Parts: sequence; structure tokens; C-alpha cells
Amino acid sequence: MLSDRDYFVIEVGEGPLDYPALFGNQNPVYIEIGSGKGEFISQYPTYHPEHNFIGFEVRGKRINNILKKLGPEKNPNVRLANLMVDGKIREFLPLSSVQGAFIQHPDPWPKKRHHRRRLINQEFLNSLAAVLLPDAFVQVSTDHLEYAAWIVREFTGNPLYYSVYEDHSVDHPVLDEHIVTWFEQEQKRLGYPPRYMMFKKK
Ligand SMILES: C[S@@+](CC[C@H](N)C(=O)[O-])C[C@H]1O[C@@H](n2cnc3c(N)ncnc32)[C@H](O)[C@@H]1O
Repeated sequence: MLSDRDYFVIEVGEGPLDYPALFGNQNPVYIEIGSGKGEFISQYPTYHPEHNFIGFEVRGKRINNILKKLGPEKNPNVRLANLMVDGKIREFLPLSSVQGAFIQHPDPWPKKRHHRRRLINQEFLNSLAAVLLPDAFVQVSTDHLEYAAWIVREFTGNPLYYSVYEDHSVDHPVLDEHIVTWFEQEQKRLGYPPRYMMFKKK
């Protein structure tokens, strides 16, 4: 019998992932980048059994945490990859293959000298656009106001995307089934409510 790790954790190697081989079906694929402790990736896909989800998380310890929240019966449409996502995303996901991307509370790297470590930059957005289908969405949330403004600037300054909301970032959740992640809960408790953003690929 497969262990949960063998069932859920996929290897990302050379060449694009083969979704039908991973999931055993041709259903639409969504990705989450920075799954953290796994609240979103363990819950949201249960509302959408007709979709497949891949959660990317760079920290191995967090993958262990997420695995505790997943089970093959409850989450047959979820897979995890222990990987740092960056501008190379188009090298391991098939081009024009992703229906939507969720990025909840990406690390803000607040110090100016660390800004170059931020996930959201033009190289990443261009590469992400290559794997997104036309009209696919990117949902982003952050409680860090300066990073929120940075994210809006990066997306609206990129000709491959448009912002769904006229004001670009809003103070209410933008998904029908909003999952409060660990980080969102913690930051709210400390007095930092999130901003929510939704962009689409043109
Ligand atoms: C601030 S936490 C937020 C976690 C979760 N999304 C939440 O809202 O509770 C950021 C998470 O993203 C992971 N992470 C940061 N950069 C990443 C990257 N480039 N690729 C994959 N995971 C990343 C971190 O290890 C961490 O678990």
C-alpha cells in the first residue's frame, strides 16, 4: 500500500509534469504557491472535486505538516511538490495548462535589500503567464501593505495580465469558499488584515 507521502508528494524533474499520469484524469489543473501549513490545499479542493490541485511548498517541514491534513479519500484531487517556485515555472509545468493560481500571503521580504527575493517580479509573472490558460486567474492575498502595492504594480505593469478589480486590491475575500489560512488568522490577530487581489491572464 502507498504511504500518504508516496500518494501525495510528486517529483518535479526535467520536462513538464504529466497531469493525467499524476491524477488519473484530464480535469482542469489549479496550483497553489506556498502552501504553508496546508489549510487551503487540504480544504478548498474538497469543494471542487472536478478540479485538480498542486500545492508547491519549499520547506520540507511544512510538507510534513500538510501531509497530516491530507488523506487519499478526502483529497484524491491534490498533489504536493516540495519545490521553490520561481521564474523557472514554465520549465516544469506544461505551457497553457493551468486554470488558476492561488498565492496566499507570499513571504513579503520587507527589508529593501531582500526585495529581490520576492516571488512576484516580472521574470516570474512572464513565466507564470506561459503556463496559464487564457483568462486563467491569479488570486493573491497579503497583509503587508507595501508588498500589496508592489504586487499591484507588478501585475498591472505587465501587458499579459489585467486586474479584475478597479481598485486592484480589496478588503474582502474574492473566492466563493474563502479558506482562512494559518497566516491570515495570525496576522489578523496581530492587527494586520489582508488585502485580496485577483488578476487574469489576457
Ligand atoms: C508566509 S507563509 C504563508 C503560508 C500560507 N499560504 C498561509 O497563508 O498560511 C509563505 C509560505 O510560502 C512558502 N514559500 C515561500 N516562497 C516560496 C516559493 N518560491 N515556492 C514555494 N513555496 C514558497 C514558505 O515556505 C511558507 O510556507
